[in-house]
Amino acid sequence: MTQHLAAPAAAPTSGTRTDWWRGAVIYQVYPRSFADADGDGMGDLAGVRTRLPYLKDLGVDAVWLSPFYASPQADAGYDVADYRAVDPMFGTLHDADALIRDAHGLGLRVIVDLVPNHSSDRHDWFRRALREGPGSPLRDRYHFRPGKGEHGELPPNDWESIFGGPAWTRVEDGEWYLHLFAPEQPDFNWDHPAVHDEFRSILRFWLDLGVDGFRVDVAHGLVKAPGLPDIGHHDQLKLLGSDTMPFFDQDGVHEVYRSWRQVLAEYAGDRILVAEAWTPTVERTALYVRPDEMHQAFNFQYLGTHWDAAELRKVIDTSLAAMRPVGAPATWVLSNHDVTRHATRFANPAGLGTQLRTPGDRALGLRRARAATLLMLALPGSAYLYQGEELGLPDVTDLPDEVRQDPSFHRAQGQDGFRDGCRVPIPWTKDGSSYGFGAGGSWLPQPEGWGELSVQAQTGDPGSTLELYREALRVRRARPGLGAGSALTWLDAPEGVLAFGREGFVCTANTTADPVRVPAPGTVLLASGPVEVTGPEVELPADTTVWWAV
Ligand code: NOJ
Repeated sequence: MTQHLAAPAAAPTSGTRTDWWRGAVIYQVYPRSFADADGDGMGDLAGVRTRLPYLKDLGVDAVWLSPFYASPQADAGYDVADYRAVDPMFGTLHDADALIRDAHGLGLRVIVDLVPNHSSDRHDWFRRALREGPGSPLRDRYHFRPGKGEHGELPPNDWESIFGGPAWTRVEDGEWYLHLFAPEQPDFNWDHPAVHDEFRSILRFWLDLGVDGFRVDVAHGLVKAPGLPDIGHHDQLKLLGSDTMPFFDQDGVHEVYRSWRQVLAEYAGDRILVAEAWTPTVERTALYVRPDEMHQAFNFQYLGTHWDAAELRKVIDTSLAAMRPVGAPATWVLSNHDVTRHATRFANPAGLGTQLRTPGDRALGLRRARAATLLMLALPGSAYLYQGEELGLPDVTDLPDEVRQDPSFHRAQGQDGFRDGCRVPIPWTKDGSSYGFGAGGSWLPQPEGWGELSVQAQTGDPGSTLELYREALRVRRARPGLGAGSALTWLDAPEGVLAFGREGFVCTANTTADPVRVPAPGTVLLASGPVEVTGPEVELPADTTVWWAV
């Protein structure tokens, strides 16, 4: 791609401080579903650009954009055919450049997604590898192997794909290639120096364009155990969260991130790496954010925690304790494009996992979601928001199977895979075509009544979830101590209630289904539901979080 661009967009200057990311609130934009400027039913970069003032006004520090690169979209862009090009469905490189410039002009940072575990099967290297046949040097950049069995008719090992079925596909000449995800996503061979060189070059390409960092997809998967050993049993997905697999969380991955950290160090402006690393424990996650590796890692243990005071306290304590020795901030997240939105998770009985198809009790889910957000935003460290959660959006649980596009749904064979429900384009206006998402339709159907949840409908309504987020982020900005550091002080509280203090501030969260009476620790700054202080005591309503100035 030879588009010529002006000098790179400078990082925000107003309010710039080093280590800006330690307490940052980072908003995930899923470009397909955020805003559609050209009316083709698919969100695009120009659409994101028009909505940057909304994000500024919301009060976030940075925007993370899910992939918008050239891709056949077998996995919604997590199958990249050209890492240096923008897919025409999302716009052009000039749109990306303009978006970064505008964001910086508004004081917002921009983080892009990097997908280094696998490419698309349409990537030039993979196509050449297929064309050139067994023994071609291009095949060494992926994991090609002869099959087992008399005629090589069996896969080289017993690994299963995260999206269901075997992790191997056989090509016409009889060899097999490895894909931990869909067959259209062949895994790179990170033992090959050309793969390292290529990704360092891709990092520089986007850093030159001015991005402030990278969210690294499947950061735990790049390096595979030597010899690609069998696992020895089926249903491997069930072990992913708890056991170390020969394809995940291998110690060799850390060398890659040390080398990337050095690339970032060549650039001015405090750029960051964020690990999407699913590991068995927060202690294993902490290894990705040692001082010479990445800056942050998603806290999926927190995302998977139920709305339960004891469980929450435990995960908060273990997360802070795991990050402290490596000096990285803890991070907190409740929703993203891979899991059922938390307003729907909390609407259902606990223990059903993060892929649900049942709407549950929506009022309960929303009440808990609002309370969970205030709790999260009071914790020390950085917080991630997923587009639409500020509107209290539920998952769309009744999408007909024929409109679903998630490859994990179509290959699931009895596993989960309902990720389309959190990817439905978001509503901006009460009425109108696709509720203001764009002038055309929307690539996934929006449910009836979506407009009542729109930005337009909620703006100015003091009881709305959008105004709660705006106010929470305003208070957080006014008290930078809230996101800073790695310590909090637990205060005495009845069972089912969390109470902790931080510099002139107390947070109380009642996770139970009943009101609880406690001493009022100060004056109310913000509450996720109606709360009345009477004298020295306060009755915390069920599923409600309150912020106090003390
Ligand atoms: C994690 C991404 O978040 C998910 O959407 C994707 O399907 C897999 N990685 C594979 O790239």
